Amino acid sequence: MLHISFGPEDDLQGASASCVAVLTDAGFAEGAVFRRLDGMTQGALSRAVEAAGFKGDRQEVCSVLAPAVAFSRIVLVGCGAEVRPGDVEVAGAVAARTFKSVTRVMVAFDGAARDHALRAGLGAILGQYRFTKYQTKGEAAPTLTEVSLLVEYPDRAEWSALEALARGVIEARDLVSEPPNVLSPEVFVERIGALRELGVEIEVLDAPKMRDLGFGALLGVAQGSDNAPRTVLMRYRNTAEQGAPLAFVGKGVTFDSGGYSLKPAGSMEEMKTDMAGAAAVVGAIHTLAARKAKVDVIGVVGLVENMVSGGAMRPGDVVTSHSGQTIEVLNTDAEGRLVLADLLSYTRERFAPALMVDLATLTGAIVVSLGYHHAGLFANDDALAVDLTAAGLETGEALWRMPMGPDYDKALRSPIADMKNIGGRPGGSITAAQFLARFVGDTPWAHLDIAGTAWSSDAKPTSPKGATGFGVRLLDALVRRREERAVG
Ligand code: BES
Ligand code: ZN
Ligand code: ZN
Repeated sequence: MLHISFGPEDDLQGASASCVAVLTDAGFAEGAVFRRLDGMTQGALSRAVEAAGFKGDRQEVCSVLAPAVAFSRIVLVGCGAEVRPGDVEVAGAVAARTFKSVTRVMVAFDGAARDHALRAGLGAILGQYRFTKYQTKGEAAPTLTEVSLLVEYPDRAEWSALEALARGVIEARDLVSEPPNVLSPEVFVERIGALRELGVEIEVLDAPKMRDLGFGALLGVAQGSDNAPRTVLMRYRNTAEQGAPLAFVGKGVTFDSGGYSLKPAGSMEEMKTDMAGAAAVVGAIHTLAARKAKVDVIGVVGLVENMVSGGAMRPGDVVTSHSGQTIEVLNTDAEGRLVLADLLSYTRERFAPALMVDLATLTGAIVVSLGYHHAGLFANDDALAVDLTAAGLETGEALWRMPMGPDYDKALRSPIADMKNIGGRPGGSITAAQFLARFVGDTPWAHLDIAGTAWSSDAKPTSPKGATGFGVRLLDALVRRREERAVG
C-alpha cells in the first residue's frame, strides 16, 4: 500500500521538494501555496495557468516542468468551484497518477481543498492500487511509494479511520482479483482468519455442520464441486449495551460455471468475481474493526463453488432450505439466491439482528437495468433504503432503488414445491430479490445487487480497472449513520 506521510508546508522550501502537487479550487490564484510557489519560480506558475487556460475545474491538471532549480515538476490539480470531500479524494488520486517514474511527491492544499486534505491520501492509495501478485516481471506496479501531505496538524484519529477504510477496500479488491483456482472456499476462510488479529471473532461452519443445520439450498449448490463449502460468521463488538447487532451477508460463490445450466464461455470468464459480495462484507468488517467502530456487527459469508460433475444438482431437483421452505431448482445458474436463502434465514434466527444487508453479484439482469454505474437496491424497509442511498452518495457508490411487491412474487410459484428458483426474464433482478425476501421474515432488510459494479473494465481515478471493492465504504458509512450516531 502506498505510504502516506505528513509534513509542514515549509517543506516546500527545501531542495528535496522536487515534485509537488497543489490541490486547489476555482479560486486557485488567491491561494497561499500558489502564491508562494509562484514567487519561488519567478512567476512560472502564473504564466503556465495563463497559457493552459487552467480554471481549477474538477480533475483538471496543469503541469509545469522544471520551473526552478529546486523543482522538477509542479502540478496543479483542480477540485472545482464548490469542493466536496470526494473531489479532494479524486484530486489526490489524479495527482498521484500524474507522477510516473517518481518515488515520492509532496501534496499541498489551497482554498477549500484544505478542509478535506486527508481525503487526498485515501484517494492516492485507492488510485494507486494494483493487483500484481502474479506478474513476475514487476512492470505493472506504479513507482510511487510515498506521498507526503503538507498538512500542518493532521487529525490522526481521522487519518487512521481513513487508512482503515483503504485497507478494507484493498482487502476486498485483493480477494475479488484472486484467481478461482487459488481462492477456494477453504483458502477464503484462511484469508478471513487474519481478522482475528483485529479482535474479530470467527466461527466456521463446515459441510457436516451445515447439513445438521439444514442448509439444503447452499449445499445443493456446493455438491457439484470437489472444493467443500464453508459458511463463515464474523463478529465485531465494541459496544457496552447488549442490543441487536447489525448483520451484513455476502454471496461468496468462488466460481460460478452455472452448473448444469452451464454458462456460455464468454460469460463464464468473469465468474471468479462471483464472491464480490462476500469480499465486501469481509472488507467492511476489516475496516470497522481496524477503526474500532462503536458497533456490534455480524458478517456472514457463504463460500461455495458452482461446478458440474456426476454429483452436481440437476435442473428439476427439489431442495429443502434452512427455513424449511422447499425450492424447485429449475436453473442451477440461479445459485446465488440459494446460498443467500440459507444465510439470511440462519442469521435472522440465530442473531435476531436489528437489520440485515446482503450484497451479491446476483443477476445479469441488473446490468441490463442499470448498467455499470448504479447497484440495484431492494428493501422491505424505507428508512434503511434511504440511509443506504445517502451513504452511497457520500462514498461514491451509487445505488438505485428498485420496486418489489406481490405481483412480482407470483412469478416464483412452483407446481411441486413452495417456490422455484427462477421467475423468468421479465424483471429478473426483482424476482431474484422477491426470492430472497421469502427468507428474511419481518427483519428490516436490504439487498444490493452488485453484479454491474463489483468489477470495472474502465479505470477511474480512485479505482483502476478490475475489482472495485464496491460496498465496503457503503457499509462503513451505513454504520456511521446508524450505530455511531446513536452512541454519540
Ligand atoms: N453470478 C451470476 C450473475 C452475474 C452476472 C454476476 C454477470 C456478475 C456478472 C448469477 O449467479 C447468475 O448466473 N444469474 C443468472 C440468473 C438466471 C439464471 C435467472 C443470470 O443473471 O443470468
Ligand atoms: Zn449463476
Ligand atoms: Zn452467481
